[in-house]
Parts: sequence; C-alpha cells; structure tokens
Amino acid sequence: MSETGATPRVYARIAGTGSYLPANVVTNEDLSKVVDTSDEWIASRTGIRQRHVAADGETTGDLAYHASVRALEAAGVEASELDLIVLGTTTPDLVFPSTACLLQHRLGANGCGAFDVNAACSGFVYALSVADKFIRAGAARTVLVVGAETLTRMVDWSDRATCVLFGDGAGAVVLKADAETGILSTHLHADGGKKELLWNPVGVSVGFKEHEKNAGVRIHMTGNEVFKYAVKALDSVVEETLAENGLDRHDIDWLIPHQANLRIIEATARRLDMPMERVVVTVDKHGNTSSGSVPLALDEAVRSGRVERGQLLLLEAFGGGFTWGSALLRY
Ligand code: ACO
Repeated sequence: MSETGATPRVYARIAGTGSYLPANVVTNEDLSKVVDTSDEWIASRTGIRQRHVAADGETTGDLAYHASVRALEAAGVEASELDLIVLGTTTPDLVFPSTACLLQHRLGANGCGAFDVNAACSGFVYALSVADKFIRAGAARTVLVVGAETLTRMVDWSDRATCVLFGDGAGAVVLKADAETGILSTHLHADGGKKELLWNPVGVSVGFKEHEKNAGVRIHMTGNEVFKYAVKALDSVVEETLAENGLDRHDIDWLIPHQANLRIIEATARRLDMPMERVVVTVDKHGNTSSGSVPLALDEAVRSGRVERGQLLLLEAFGGGFTWGSALLRY
C-alpha cells in the first residue's frame, strides 16, 4: 500500500533481451535442390531468403538456454533472482517435464515456478501476457519470458508448400517490476474452430498410431486461408490495442510483428500508416520461427540500437489454433 492507502501501480518492464539462432543456414537456393521451388517464388510470396536449422541433437531447450543467458546478461540479473519462467513453444523437448523446467535447472534458477505456454506462433506474446499479469498482480517481480522453437523438426521436407516457410530459433526477455512504465496492455484471442487450416494432428491423447497412419508427424497448412484470416485478425487486434490505450496509430514508434510472411507484415504496417523503416523485419533471414520470431526481432532491433529506451513498441503475432495477440509497451 502507498502512503495514501492506494495500491501503487506496477508495470512489467523489459530489463534485457537475448536471442539465439542455430549455426546451420539453409538458403532458398539449397531448398530448390530438394523440392520443386525457387528463390524467386519463395522471396516474392513470403520475403524469406534463408532460415536457420537446428543441428541433430540440438533441441528447443538448447536454443532457449542460449537466448536466456544473453537476456539475463543484458538485464544484469542472476538466474537465482528469477521468480518465474514462462516459455512459449509448440515444439517442446519432451512431452514432460516442460521445456521451462529443463531450462530452469540448466540456468540454476532452482525453486522458481516454471511452465510452458503452447499457442503456436503466438506463444511468446501469450507468455509475455501471462508474465505481465504475474508482475502486475504482485505475485512476481523478476520473470524470464522465452519464445523458442525447433519447428523444422516437424516439417515435411518433401512438401514445398510448407517446408520453405519455417526456421528454428529462440528469443528471451527479462521482465522486472517497475514503478514508472513498461507493458501497457496485452490482448489475446483464439479461434479453435479453424484448427484444420493450420495444425499438426499428432498427439498423445488422440493416439500416435492412428495419426501416423493418416497424416504423419508434420505441419498441415491451407496457406491462402491462413493468410486472409491472419491479416484480418491482426488488423483487429491492432485497432483494439490502440483504442484501449487511447492512442493514435501514429503514436507507435516501432512495429515488431510475428515474422511469417512479409506481405502480412506490410498489410499491418499499412493499417498503422507506418513506413517500413519503422517495422522490424527479420523474416528474410530467419523464416518463420514461430514463438521465437517476435523476441528474436525485438532483440535484433535492441542490439542494433534501433529501438531505444522510452519508445513505444507494438508487438503482435498470429499462429495455429488459431491464436493471435498483441502487446503494447514502453521500452
Ligand atoms: N514453390 C513454388 N510453388 C509453390 C510453392 C513453393 N515453395 N508452394 C506452393 N506453390 C504453388 C502451389 O502449389 C500453387 O500452385 P497451383 O496454383 O498450381 O496450385 C501456387 O504456388 C499458389 O499457392 P498458394 O498456397 O495459393 O500461394 P500463396 O500466395 O497463398 O502463398 C503462402 C503461400 C506463402 C504459404 C501464404 O499463403 C502464407 O504465407 N500464408 C500464411 C502463413 C502464416 O502466416 N502462418 C501462420 C503462422 S504458422 C504457425 O502458427 C505454425
């Protein structure tokens, strides 16, 4: 309680960012030797030029660990100071324990709460929203939020419609309770009725055998339907975010979007009347790294000096579920 008796407002502020990409780079040219595609088709339809692919034995947890170490260093926070770890992923190392628990042990953050959030490509924005609520509620003061994926592990490398799209990578942020400013609002949505437009129908409880027979362990996507839905959903969540904060679209300094397709990113930028110079684009170098994409883009923009303290950032993502969401924050 404050001196006046009112509960002081607490924000979750980003204290540090980090990211990690596997060393192995696969170019469009490389893929054109495996499936019937071309650099021209992939680049003109998606903006992707290359993606990073995890080495054999390199897991989501490995990528998450390296990204987290960098975020902790940038924040000047020891792992032992963490109150909570929330990790967005749809490609966990194991069914259980969660990748967040594996990460917690490896970082030496023993004892703090740790759990995964599965919201496909929106995983990081969902995880960030959960962490923000813990800090606002006073239940945690220092939280590690991670988005990490090895999506290439469930790509069908003979399906040109999907294998050209995805890459592996991880990003992380350390959030600290702050009296001044930080995350202003987050907005989460889902539409489970569209699951068959973008899914991997293999699972534990539905039984592996049936699905291996029918479909195989791989991503299925009706790309053009996903594209149309994603553009509308992102338009709507951007409007919702601006309205809730009483902001004009010109108030945003940086758009840090999910990196699935450059054409989707450009559509959202047009909606915000934002020149592409103020949109962080990494899809050309990373492909779609699912939960990894937004924190990877954020870290790249922070470390290159483009994003500066005090600026207003709009993060957004869309993915399988469908799920989508946004976070508005003052960096
Ligand atoms: N190389 C060459 N041709 C190709 C390739 C390829 N890699 N892939 C598909 N084609 C062909 C198709 O076979 C089709 O040929 P046809 O006309 O002879 O039938 C033609 O190209 C057009 O295919 P479309 O699917 O209609 O192409 P579109 O312009 O829609 O682009 C794409 C496809 C890039 C997948 C786009 O729809 C897209 O980006 N969708 C959204 C993806 C997304 O945002 N996913 C959300 C996150 S992912 C997650 O949550 C895991």
